[in-house]
Amino acid sequence: MQQEVVEAQGHLIDSHLMEQIFDTVVEHNGRFEVEQFSIGKTNAEPSYLRLKVETTESADMQQLLTHLLTLGCSPVDSGDAQMAPVERDKCAPEDFYSTTNHHTLIRRKGKWIEVQNQRMDAMIVVSGDTAVCRRLRDLRQGDQVVVGMRGIRVVPESKERDRLSFAFMNTDISSERQVETAVRQTAALIRQTRENGQKVIVVAGPVVIHTGGSRSLSLLIKCGWVQALLAGNALGVHDIEASLLGTSLGVRQSDGRQEEHGHRNHMRAINAIYHAGGIAKAVESGKLQSGVMYECVKSGVPFVLAGSLRDDGPLPDTITDMNQAQDAYAEQLKGAGLVLCLGSMLHSIATGNMAPSWVKIVCVDINPAVATKVSDRGTGQAVGVVTDVGLFLEHLARELGCK
Ligand SMILES: NC(=O)c1ccc[n+]([C@@H]2O[C@H](COP(=O)([O-])OP(=O)(O)OC[C@H]3O[C@@H](n4cnc5c(N)ncnc54)[C@H](O)[C@@H]3O)[C@@H](O)[C@H]2O)c1
Repeated sequence: MQQEVVEAQGHLIDSHLMEQIFDTVVEHNGRFEVEQFSIGKTNAEPSYLRLKVETTESADMQQLLTHLLTLGCSPVDSGDAQMAPVERDKCAPEDFYSTTNHHTLIRRKGKWIEVQNQRMDAMIVVSGDTAVCRRLRDLRQGDQVVVGMRGIRVVPESKERDRLSFAFMNTDISSERQVETAVRQTAALIRQTRENGQKVIVVAGPVVIHTGGSRSLSLLIKCGWVQALLAGNALGVHDIEASLLGTSLGVRQSDGRQEEHGHRNHMRAINAIYHAGGIAKAVESGKLQSGVMYECVKSGVPFVLAGSLRDDGPLPDTITDMNQAQDAYAEQLKGAGLVLCLGSMLHSIATGNMAPSWVKIVCVDINPAVATKVSDRGTGQAVGVVTDVGLFLEHLARELGCK
C-alpha cells in the first residue's frame, strides 16, 4: 500500500476545492482519511485540510499527487524541491515539473520562495534564491530545473469575496444573461482594474470590424481604457480597409452591401500601408486618419499583430515569426489585470495560455463554445459573454462614458 499525507489551505469550501480533492483521490483508485480539518470562521480566514491518501499502485500515487498539487494540495513536509541540470539547450530533464497558471512556491534550503513570471506549461528554473517560469525553448545548458513533485506548493485562485466582480466572475457562461448586465459588470471590472494600477488588454479578431465595433473600440482606446491591443493580421487589415475605403472584406460599412470589386479592397489597404512604410508612418503622413490602428498610434497604445497561415499580405507590422509573436504578446501581458477577448478563438486561447490565473479574462463571442474552450485549456478563470461583439462594444463605450 502506498501512503502519503497531504495538506491544503485556502477557501476550500466555497471554491469547491474540497470536493475536487476528494473526487480526485477516488478517481485515481485511492482512499482518503481526513486527519484534520478546520474551517475558516470569517470571510478572510482560510480553511485547513490534512488528508491521508492511499493507493495500491505506486503509479496511481504519482498521478494522484500530480493532480492534487494543481488543486493546491501538496505532500506534508516534503523537503526541498528537487532539481536537475539542463544538459542541452531546449532539452529538459525527463521528469521536469510542468507548471500551472496558479501562484506557485518552491522550497529551497528550507525556505518557500515564490515562482516568478507564472504561466502554464513552463519549467521552473532556479538560480540562487530566485525561481522563474521558463518555456522549453528558452532553457539553456546548465540551468537548474525543478523535477518531481516534492517541495512544490500551488495556490489556486479562490473565489473573490466582497468584490464588485464577485457575482459576474463566478457565473457560468450563459447566452441568456442580458447583454446590458454583462456590459455593466465588465465596465466595473475595467474601472476596478485601472484603479488598481493594472492594465486592461484587448485581444480582438477581425469580426470586431465586420460587426461595426471599430468606432467603439477606437473610442475605448482614445479614452484610455485600453493599455495594449493584441490581434492578428486580419484585424489590422480590415480596420485599415474600413478607414481608407469604407468596407471590411469588401462589404460597405454604411449599408452592409457588397461593393463592386470590393474583394480587392483589403489588398489595396495592405498595399497602401506598404507604400507608407508601416502603420505608424501611415498615421504620421496623414494617410490613415481613423480606426482602431490609428487610435493605437495616436494614443501611444502598443499593439501586436501576430501572423497566421491564412494571412494576406501580411501588413509590414505583422510579426510572422510565431515565437517572436508569442514573446511580444507575453511582454504586453505583464502587469495585466484584465484581458478582454473579443471575437477571436485563436487569439483568445493563445492569450489565455500565457496569462496567470489571477488575471481576469472576459471572453465575448457569439459562440458559447469559445469561452468553454478557453476554460477547458486550463484558463479556468475565463468567463463568457455570448453576444454580438459590435453590439457589446457599443454598449461598453457608452457605459464607460466614451465620446
Ligand atoms: N485577410 C487576412 O489576412 C485574414 C483574414 C481572416 C483571418 N486571418 C487570420 O486568421 C486567424 C484567425 O482569425 P480569427 O481570429 O478571425 O478566427 P477565429 O475562428 O479564431 O475566431 C473568430 C471568432 O469570432 C466569433 N464571431 C463570429 N461572429 C461574431 C459576432 N458577430 N460577434 C462575436 N463573435 C463572433 C466566432 O464565433 C469565432 O470564435 C487570425 O490570425 C487572423 O489574423 C487573416
